[in-house]
Amino acid sequence: MEGIYRDELITLRRMKDCLEDYSLLTKWLSDPSVAQYYEGKSKLYDMEKVLMKFGPYARGEERVIPCIIEYQNTPIGYIQYYKAHPDEYDESKVVDMTKYKNTHGADIIIGETQFWNKGIGTNVIQMMIRFLFENENADIIFIDPQTWNKRAIRCYEKSGFNPLMVAKNRELLDDIPKDSLIMAITAKDQPLYLL
Ligand SMILES: CC(C)(COP(=O)(O)OP(=O)(O)OC[C@H]1O[C@@H](n2cnc3c(N)ncnc32)[C@H](O)[C@@H]1OP(=O)(O)O)[C@@H](O)C(=O)NCCC(=O)NCCS
Repeated sequence: MEGIYRDELITLRRMKDCLEDYSLLTKWLSDPSVAQYYEGKSKLYDMEKVLMKFGPYARGEERVIPCIIEYQNTPIGYIQYYKAHPDEYDESKVVDMTKYKNTHGADIIIGETQFWNKGIGTNVIQMMIRFLFENENADIIFIDPQTWNKRAIRCYEKSGFNPLMVAKNRELLDDIPKDSLIMAITAKDQPLYLL
């Protein structure tokens, strides 16, 4: 399906295996002000690196489903979701994962920086939550911002995610291991994000 979710302002659509979409990712991930929230300012992407990483996703060769965020029909960012393994996030076994049969994860980058801090990220995350619960039958969704990324954490909290635990050294930023805050929302938390 081309469009996965839309409202009057925002459309989430599948990323395509085409130059146009790879160019968008290249533009965003070659910008140091964006890359500092991804793999680090010293880890800028060029087209070749984008094709290596996102090509298999766009061609459906991996479990990650890549999507482009459009705001008033203009591409402004990237969001991906995927079916996750039950122990992929909950390393410390905080959650009784036997209660969940359909675990998902998601990640987001608004690549056009002038669209940060306007509530768009929260709207997009809420759309994705709704899509995963309603269309993909997810029963729990995880997200794992690095602990220093207070804006992302606030955005996910506002969207209904609950903090679960800190996972030490989960990701590299400029080759330095960083801790992540593991957050989750379950289908029974749904009233939270509908508020
Ligand atoms: C993280 C991201 C998706 C959030 O989307 P957004 O549209 O900018 O966020 P929103 O405007 O919906 O919400 C941001 C909230 O964080 C708050 N905030 C902003 N900067 C903050 C900071 N330094 N410390 C604490 N809170 C902060 C805002 O005030 C707002 O909360 P409020 O509504 O209670 O005032 C977006 O900023 C982004 O893509 N950033 C770059 C990439 C990134 O960090 N991705 C996430 C990786 S886990």
